[in-house]
Amino acid sequence: MIQLSSYEKAILKGEMGEAKKLAMELIVKIGEIYQAKDLVQVSSAHILGHYGSLHDAGVAFYEKLVQLKASCVIPTTVDPSSLPVRWEEYRIPASYAQKQKRLCKATQKLGVIQNWSCTPYEFGNIPRFGEMLAWAESSAVVYANSVLGARTNRTPAGLDIAAAITGRMPRIGLYLDCNRVGKILVEIAIPKLSDLDYHTIGYFIGKKVGTNIPVISGIPTTCSNYNLKCLGAAAASSGAVSMVHMLGITPEAKMMDPFNGKEPESVFRIANKDLEIIQKEISTPCHFEADIVAIGCPHLSLEELRELYNKLRDKKIKKWIKFWIYTSQSVYTIAQQMGIIQQIEESGAEFQVGTCPVIAPLRYYGFKTMVTNSAKNANVVPSEHNIEVIYTDLATCIKMAVQ
Ligand code: F3S
Repeated sequence: MIQLSSYEKAILKGEMGEAKKLAMELIVKIGEIYQAKDLVQVSSAHILGHYGSLHDAGVAFYEKLVQLKASCVIPTTVDPSSLPVRWEEYRIPASYAQKQKRLCKATQKLGVIQNWSCTPYEFGNIPRFGEMLAWAESSAVVYANSVLGARTNRTPAGLDIAAAITGRMPRIGLYLDCNRVGKILVEIAIPKLSDLDYHTIGYFIGKKVGTNIPVISGIPTTCSNYNLKCLGAAAASSGAVSMVHMLGITPEAKMMDPFNGKEPESVFRIANKDLEIIQKEISTPCHFEADIVAIGCPHLSLEELRELYNKLRDKKIKKWIKFWIYTSQSVYTIAQQMGIIQQIEESGAEFQVGTCPVIAPLRYYGFKTMVTNSAKNANVVPSEHNIEVIYTDLATCIKMAVQ
């Protein structure tokens, strides 16, 4: 039987309104299924809000919560939307767009911070070490656990918004010390890692470790935050990874033995030749010329955008290729003030702000071959949208797109 505080019992009895009661019923039910002893107090939520994943049931649930006058009691951000910029030009059915707009409206009414980004930890929702969170986006979950040292499970849709309006989650999974222990040692035996290598390593680790927590040695402590973000995103997409311990980087791995005094159950090494093989495997066979380049999965940070700006300077994108850059509203707004956006757009590249190449229904656009420097994107797009993929580094992505 799950232990509830008097506050939680009052919510469950409906003393704090129907919406909270409904959300608490859901949390308690899930807690009972997973045999949680009690609930944890979570200090922020990151929810899904894209129609492509939530479908009609998600729209109905969010609108019901609005009708019941629900409101987020903790800072709550939202993942990218399924509606790309200028969606009308790309044969997306109006009925689909309407559903996404209803979700946007419902999240506004619930008090969700309208960042529509998979990198909430960059702006708007930045947790501290040890904080308990209820985050849904798998790439952000890995980042929160592994780079920031906060604690969150890969919170499923429905439970994420329930946490946002009650501030509670069942104490299960990665909230518990015992489930944060490393099981597999991964030794990276590569002296100098390129930006693309971090994606490829993440993809490789995800395939190898499944649901186990890997402990990774050989990641330089001087690498950028976006390298870590990309490694985690790729690992979470090719496997069920929600946390990695990176020696010298992950706060818990700095403070204690990530194996908790035990020997690793298995050890594997990643050398240069492995990365070359995996990199080729991530691309699909391609029968058509590239017609879209997608950069920004996960959403580009300001730092990455500046790098892209420098690389695109004085270049012109071919007329028949779309060069789409995905980022958050916050990064876009600051970059606009820095004059970066205008300069990038002069090359012919376009911004897709607050949306995502995987979640937006690219299949309606008729694209045949995508070029991307994201292992997560390359891993998911072929099956999701029936588009062939070339996975390569940023310099080659640009080279293939410019005249
Ligand atoms: Fe973000 Fe979409 Fe990639 S949510 S991590 S841009 S698949």
